[in-house]
Amino acid sequence: AQLNVLARKAGKLYFGTATDTGELGNTTYYSILTNTSEFGQLVPSNGQKWIFTEPLQGVFNFTEGHIVTDITQKTGQLLRCHNLVWHSQLAPWVENTTWTAETLAPMLEEHVFREAREWKGKCYAWDVVNEALDEDGSFRESVFFDILGPEFIKIAFRAAARADPGAKLYYNDYNIESPGNKSAAARTIVKMLQDDGIKVDGVGLQSHFVVGSTPSIDEQIETMRGYADLGVEVAITELDIRLDLPANTSNLAQQKEDYKKTVGACMQVKECIGITVWDFWDPVSWVPSVFEGQGAATLYFDNFTKHPAYYGVVEALTNK
Ligand code: G3I
Repeated sequence: AQLNVLARKAGKLYFGTATDTGELGNTTYYSILTNTSEFGQLVPSNGQKWIFTEPLQGVFNFTEGHIVTDITQKTGQLLRCHNLVWHSQLAPWVENTTWTAETLAPMLEEHVFREAREWKGKCYAWDVVNEALDEDGSFRESVFFDILGPEFIKIAFRAAARADPGAKLYYNDYNIESPGNKSAAARTIVKMLQDDGIKVDGVGLQSHFVVGSTPSIDEQIETMRGYADLGVEVAITELDIRLDLPANTSNLAQQKEDYKKTVGACMQVKECIGITVWDFWDPVSWVPSVFEGQGAATLYFDNFTKHPAYYGVVEALTNK
């Protein structure tokens, strides 16, 4: 059986994937992408980001996002929406304007509200704020944090809740999958919102891992439970596990173990509701363009044969 079928049988909501507009024309790719036995959920890896959605101040454009999100209207796949506020892939005007708290707060609120309202009723979940933390657990510098402080996170979650009350609202980040300062800080963000009575429903664990140094299953379980104890759900939102090229029998075998323990951690935590891979086909993965000499981070090779890791995921989903 295929990944989404197995995930659903195991009580999870979905096994899903990210995708992007550039790869939809490949017919083999597209048939796997839209096979609901394999993937029960999609997320656009770029089209809902600020640079596309509000390229000029007050000029909203949701075309790029809809190219991917509209697929789910036809297939019935769940949709994760990504993202409303991020320091990266921002439209240049946001960073080129001189803001005060009095001018930035309403602009941010309007951006989040307009975008979340555009997809109202369609997103299972929104990544409302993405990557607001540095590695040591302090807040990352950004135009939003520098002018508004942590308040920017509250503004975003409030506006998202107002625009789409039915969507699960997530804080999403990387390197928050194991114990330490950064995952503690992610819990603090959840508590900060809860203390103000602001709706927050989940923590997204991006899970961009490296073969051989993926956190242990126990560390991942413990960290997931730390969020769940606050009363929110968790999801693995951007899973990929990169290796030093070329791929060979030994690094692919380790990759299989690393995928297996990550999916296995989600299996052990009932509040972990689903797993999303950050694309499933090596040629379109973001990894090689950012990490020189690394790649083969997904579940399918260039020729659409499956990595051993695919079967590691199957084993985890079937508790083998
Ligand atoms: O849109 C332009 C296009 O006009 C231009 O011709 C082309 C030339 O390079 O670039 C295109 O922009 C690229 C964009 O993806 C859309 O394809 C950027 O160069 C490229 O840097 C960008 O990469 C994306 C990256 O986020 C940006 O940080 C990746 O595809 C995307 O997978 C990645 O996703 C992020 C998540 O959103 C957050 N978590 C980490 C994850 C991996 O970095």
